[in-house]
Amino acid sequence: MADALRSPDQPPAPILRSDYRAPDWRVSEIALGFDLDPARTVVRAKLHVTRNGGHGRPLRLDGDGLQPLSVGIDGVASSNDRWRMDGDALVIDLDGDAHVVDTEVAIAPERNTQLMGLYASGGNLCTQCEAEGFRRITFFPDRPDVLARYSVRMTADKARFPVLLANGDPIAHGDLEDGRHWAEWHDPFPKPSYLFALVAGDLVANRATFVTGSGREVQLAIWVREKDLAKTDHALDALKTSMAWDERVYGREYDLDVFNIVAVDDFNFGAMENKGLNIFNSRYILADPDTATDHDYDAVAAVVAHEYFHNWSGNRVTCRDWFQLSLKEGFTVFRDQGFSADQGSAAVKRIEDVRSLRAAQFPEDAGPLAHPIRPDSYLEISNFYTATIYNKGAEVVRMLHTMLGPQRFRAGTDLYFDRFDGTAATCEDFVASMEEANGVDLAQFRLWYAQAGTPRVTATLEHEPGGGTATLHLAQMVPPTPGQPDKQPMVLPLKLRLFGGNTGRPLGDEQLVLLSDAEATLRFEAVTERPVLSINRGFSAPVIVDTNRTPADLAFLSAHDDDPFARYEAMQQLMLDTLVASVASGRGDHGAVVDAVRETLRNPELDRAFVAEAVLLPSDNFIGDQLPIVDPDAIFRAREALRRDIGRALERDWRQAYEDTRGGAFEYSPEAKGKRRLKTVALGYLAASGAPDIGELAFAQFEHADNMTDRQGALMTLVNGPWDQRVAALDIFYNRYRDNPLVLDKWFSTQALSTRDDTPERVVELAGHRDFTLANPNRARALVGAFGVNQRAFHAADGRGYRFFVQQLIALDRLNPQTAAKMMPPLGRWRRFDPARQQAMRAALEQILASPGLSKDMLEQVSKSLA
Ligand code: ARG
Ligand code: ZN
Repeated sequence: MADALRSPDQPPAPILRSDYRAPDWRVSEIALGFDLDPARTVVRAKLHVTRNGGHGRPLRLDGDGLQPLSVGIDGVASSNDRWRMDGDALVIDLDGDAHVVDTEVAIAPERNTQLMGLYASGGNLCTQCEAEGFRRITFFPDRPDVLARYSVRMTADKARFPVLLANGDPIAHGDLEDGRHWAEWHDPFPKPSYLFALVAGDLVANRATFVTGSGREVQLAIWVREKDLAKTDHALDALKTSMAWDERVYGREYDLDVFNIVAVDDFNFGAMENKGLNIFNSRYILADPDTATDHDYDAVAAVVAHEYFHNWSGNRVTCRDWFQLSLKEGFTVFRDQGFSADQGSAAVKRIEDVRSLRAAQFPEDAGPLAHPIRPDSYLEISNFYTATIYNKGAEVVRMLHTMLGPQRFRAGTDLYFDRFDGTAATCEDFVASMEEANGVDLAQFRLWYAQAGTPRVTATLEHEPGGGTATLHLAQMVPPTPGQPDKQPMVLPLKLRLFGGNTGRPLGDEQLVLLSDAEATLRFEAVTERPVLSINRGFSAPVIVDTNRTPADLAFLSAHDDDPFARYEAMQQLMLDTLVASVASGRGDHGAVVDAVRETLRNPELDRAFVAEAVLLPSDNFIGDQLPIVDPDAIFRAREALRRDIGRALERDWRQAYEDTRGGAFEYSPEAKGKRRLKTVALGYLAASGAPDIGELAFAQFEHADNMTDRQGALMTLVNGPWDQRVAALDIFYNRYRDNPLVLDKWFSTQALSTRDDTPERVVELAGHRDFTLANPNRARALVGAFGVNQRAFHAADGRGYRFFVQQLIALDRLNPQTAAKMMPPLGRWRRFDPARQQAMRAALEQILASPGLSKDMLEQVSKSLA
């Protein structure tokens, strides 16, 4: 076995970016034959290989847990004098420059618990190959710079697997004896092995056609089990909208006659962009009002768009090696963010994206697993599908867009797509395309690809009362990260504007300042009133900004800034400053926040979705990130006290807001969504106020809701509170949705995220529930993953949160190392806590490290976290 079992005396060697070498052998074509069966699938592969360059090295084919049943060279069965196994790899000596190599292996999809390679989900068979799953299916040079044309022939039992799908176009199909049938598919586009896919199952399709700009008619189909068919319209609409959007915004058309999407319940992450055959976690396809929240609807559309956009940013132009992962992921996230922004409120979308960047990426960049968006080394590439590669990667692309403007940015992407179409490219190729298309110099900007850590900017605005000039001092600092003690200043595009503190009017236009030195000073003339600084507007650079703004300045901006993001940001900063002060003092002065919330809430001009975002307090975790030592209980107390004061002081406003958002049957429009969002926020503040009727109000909302947003919103309020209705609501919810795994996930996660004191006991109980299983990644994430981000419960002073977590992670690692390793980071943040917690967290990490048969995935995460 490849990496699942290793002896501790042979530590695996890291892969280095600097070691990249072009492949020794290329594969022009591969013909694959699958005799599909969950217990034993036979895979035959015929590879047309050609020597790349004048070397004398053998052909080395990657494998993972495979044993060849036969090997043939140029049509002749070969005994093992021409080939040998070197660990998991199959090494074949070849004399000439071009050969045909045949291999045959047998695999057992139903025993594949890692969900990489060919596996079974809900009785169907499907594949996941990115990054290195193809080598669990057949022997192949499993690296993204080996591009081959694929033909696939599948045979399977016709009754059990009536639908047989693979990449590209269907060529032919027919029946066999013994109730089996066959199908052949051919993909005309050369592709790397990570984009290979097949699906065999009992599936039905929701179909549509799309006509591309140049008149090609594409057959679209979303394949699901019959019971789910009615939940696929939203995804299908999103697909059509994405196809049109990519033509309009990037000039990119679809290139095959068919585009298939399949939804499966067991999936390690969100979805996968296999050429012409996207495979999705069902949570990013299935949506109807009764089972999906507005947030789920938005996520479905975003992920459908993301995977579709990969057809160009990922498939037509792929990655040379896995160090370039952000080339396709960062860019594609930027593209899907743009798509979503165009479907509703761009401001609210930006707020959501920045909130999740701060929740997931900032802590990563500040902790033991920090890495640049183009890493220099890895042990296990699966560990690098991170918020840094994806979300910070998207921010880096966004900065190029901000600095160049939309037209010049588009000239850069046109050049990039045209020049690198059909090839495996690098991040450098992308940046060089931007430079060349626009005649700009991005030499220093490239540091964003090389340096990890979130830059910190200090902005100090000075103005002499009565004087006519204001001075802004800017300074930047990029913090040290593991392996990178010294950093150079980066290029930071900062959008800023000054406002008059008395009149509220803008003092001049918005400017884009490129801070590229460690320090800079800006002067503003004709400033006759006290200026207030609005900076990093639209979150133009992914940095932390410290300013000398007073609470009054922040309150002022939260009411008057013309940039909605900056307005949100001012309110957040005001809340954060207030909370940080009260964590330190144990007492809070909440007046300024209460006033600012009141003002925002009462402003009729504002979009309800924006109001809902703006009045939300920063999370426990984010407050913790601001403090030198995280005290989870003090943070929770401070936050609850502020919530209670906002709830009490504005009780009538919340009741009013709640009433205003009532009524009307479910509708999926930006306006209706905004109302529902504010409704849940209002209910939460009313609950915090301690008003006696809230248990009843929430329970009524829970019972009468005609959509999941309202129902789950009410459930969440009940599950966080003291009311008896909590137990009834959980029972009703469970019984209503016990056969729907995606909704049952919500039942688990709502409880794992509960702010109640008994949450640590409750999660232990839930892990023993008959519907809990670690074998399904969504379910594991719903309970264990959610618990890991519940700061107060996870860090319970007696350490039971850690004990529970470690036990689950060790068990999960045996089944599914990728999913386990991905959930580990909360434990790695031990340096941020008090000595007692530090010790308990380290002991938990040591316990993982000592567990027998630890995966390479987990080994990398844990050992880096302890270092
Ligand atoms: N490329 C896929 C996407 O972003 C995700 C693949 C994740 N692979 C992994 N080993 N974690 O759409
Ligand atoms: Zn992606």
